[in-house]
Amino acid sequence: MLSINKPGDRVDNYRLTLGGKEYIPIIVGGMGVNISTAELALEACRLGGIGHISDAMNPFVADKKFHTKYTKAKASKHRESRDSLDKTSVKFDLEDLRLAQLDIVHAVMAQKKGDGAIYINVMEKLNMAAPGDTLRARLCAALEAGIDGVTLSAGLHNGTLKLMADQPRFHDVKIGIIVSSVRALKIFLRSGKRYNRLPDYIIVEGPLAGGHLGFGEDWREYDLRDIFIETLRFLQDQDLDIPVIPAGGIFTGTEAAEYLQLGAGAVQLATRFTITEECGLPDKAKQSYFRSNEEDVFVSTLSPTGYPLRLLKESPCIDANIKPQCEPFGYILNKDGGCLYIDAYEATPLDEKGRKLPVKDKVCLCYHFSKYNAYTCGHYVYRLKDTTHQFANGDYQVLTVDHVFNDYRYSTDHRIALPEPQERRVKTA
Ligand SMILES: Cc1cc2nc3c(=O)[nH]c(=O)nc-3n(C[C@H](O)[C@H](O)[C@H](O)COP(=O)(O)O)c2cc1C
Repeated sequence: MLSINKPGDRVDNYRLTLGGKEYIPIIVGGMGVNISTAELALEACRLGGIGHISDAMNPFVADKKFHTKYTKAKASKHRESRDSLDKTSVKFDLEDLRLAQLDIVHAVMAQKKGDGAIYINVMEKLNMAAPGDTLRARLCAALEAGIDGVTLSAGLHNGTLKLMADQPRFHDVKIGIIVSSVRALKIFLRSGKRYNRLPDYIIVEGPLAGGHLGFGEDWREYDLRDIFIETLRFLQDQDLDIPVIPAGGIFTGTEAAEYLQLGAGAVQLATRFTITEECGLPDKAKQSYFRSNEEDVFVSTLSPTGYPLRLLKESPCIDANIKPQCEPFGYILNKDGGCLYIDAYEATPLDEKGRKLPVKDKVCLCYHFSKYNAYTCGHYVYRLKDTTHQFANGDYQVLTVDHVFNDYRYSTDHRIALPEPQERRVKTA
């Protein structure tokens, strides 16, 4: 825990300045697949902060939202490989990918209100069977559709800036990166200098965050505060004035204010927003998040990306035996048509009736994220129950983004404001 130098200090005493604009220094992190929905990001923006949508599986997300048929078209084009584990021929149609990204980003930007901003989280590790080409299509379309900022996460390909360097908005859109070490930051800065394009902000994500972690199985040995301070010092030594934004396990407004006192530009938060009405998770998942206890959370090696993934043990994706779904999805396929889930599936034996036994080593993340079956969460998910009321039937009251955002903004002394109690349970999506 950081020491409080200024008792009673709160997030609202600070502002983030980016590109001459001032924001409430609260950033809601990207949560894929469509967990940080447009509605969630728009609320953060309306309240004067920065909200992220995610670009993970956006053709699929566009189909759900706008009744387009990108997923069906891809599945039908590649139907020959459905019963084979050789997925080398499965590729994305780059024009469809561009159009899907335009659909999603245009729609959210058209609804933008308030003094905040809408950014998009782009996970570079989604290889999508042709890493450079698909990433270029996703990035350029997001810029073309007018996104305010792009946060590059999970990967840090040296060549990412080059992929969008010719896009007319390259020097105008805000570009940030998520790193978990100064070493990764140094690599990125080298490529930034080559394209005369330093990041506008740097998110330092520690080991208690949700989603995939930028650490190995030794994640417990790292501490967000240490990496954050090391990053501040490194930038000072380099004479670089770039806002540094810590993320991962910041649970109260007071903890956020403490980072701001130490020199953070803003804080990035996610887990406390997963149980809001605007969050895309189904109600069943939100109630699992509320009910969870510390021992129900674990950092798994189940993700076929190879990165550790924090999950709730009751995630429906665990021990499933679904056939690889690369024809409709295929977001994790590498350029040679490989995915660690395909290998794990292939290595899993059949039972005496010829059915595949549960696949233990990996999960088909594309399929399960499409069904909201992977309950990823930050380490402190088990504290969510203390942020709301419980109904007589044992369920918990879902919050709103407005409530959680303002609690972070105004809270002091580690207090968490409870919402107005609802008379009865209101079912959300
Ligand atoms: C449900 C969930 C999904 C997430 N998905 C992503 C993602 O798709 N890409 C990413 O870069 N970070 C992802 N994250 C990480 C968050 O953006 C954020 O940086 C981090 O969780 C902040 O820590 P906190 O959850 O303890 O507040 C996810 C986090 C959660 C809780």
